[in-house]
Amino acid sequence: MNIAVFASGRGSNFQSILNAIDAGILPAQVVVLISNKSDAGAMEIARAQNIPTQHLSQKMFSSEEALAKAMLDVLKKKQTEFIVLAGYLKKIPAQVIREYRNRIINIHPALLPLFGGDGMYGHRVHESVLASGEKVSGATVHLVDEEYDRGPIVMQKTVDIVPDETPDSLAAKVLKIEHEIFPLALKAFAEGRVKVEGRKAWITS
Ligand code: GRF
Repeated sequence: MNIAVFASGRGSNFQSILNAIDAGILPAQVVVLISNKSDAGAMEIARAQNIPTQHLSQKMFSSEEALAKAMLDVLKKKQTEFIVLAGYLKKIPAQVIREYRNRIINIHPALLPLFGGDGMYGHRVHESVLASGEKVSGATVHLVDEEYDRGPIVMQKTVDIVPDETPDSLAAKVLKIEHEIFPLALKAFAEGRVKVEGRKAWITS
């Protein structure tokens, strides 16, 4: 399966996907890394491993349609079959979502449908979880639709919250399980084992 990864930040999830491919666990290849930030850590990782990169930012285009067209041109040129959002902080243009319906996944550092939505990223998520008094948090892999963090949930894993938990300690625990479940969810897609019906997605064995 030809995967395009979109990332804005340090790229540890991107690296976990590359590790799973290298280990022979994930039958796929990353055909391009797209970032809105030319100096993102994820871009450095791609360059160091000779994975094609593409810097595409809304600032380079006069409209969302023009950005979408540029993205679709790259995706088509690289024969992209599946899109992975690995810490991509911008909204994916509607035309791209339409073109890749049910073929775009994202990872979120909490148990959706709670603690998601516009502006809920990074430390804000973990601070909100701790302020709520929840006793568990976790990571969610979900399909991407037109709204932030709303598409069908594909996979989740929980972590326990301990009494002296801090946003930093919780972020570290959650990141660890993100690196476990993201490649696994992707593997299920690559093997054609994900069924989607309306708001529900599930993995068959
Ligand atoms: C992760 O916490 C992920 O859940 C969120 O963005 C962060 C990206 O981290 N969507 P990294 O760039 O993969 O290290």
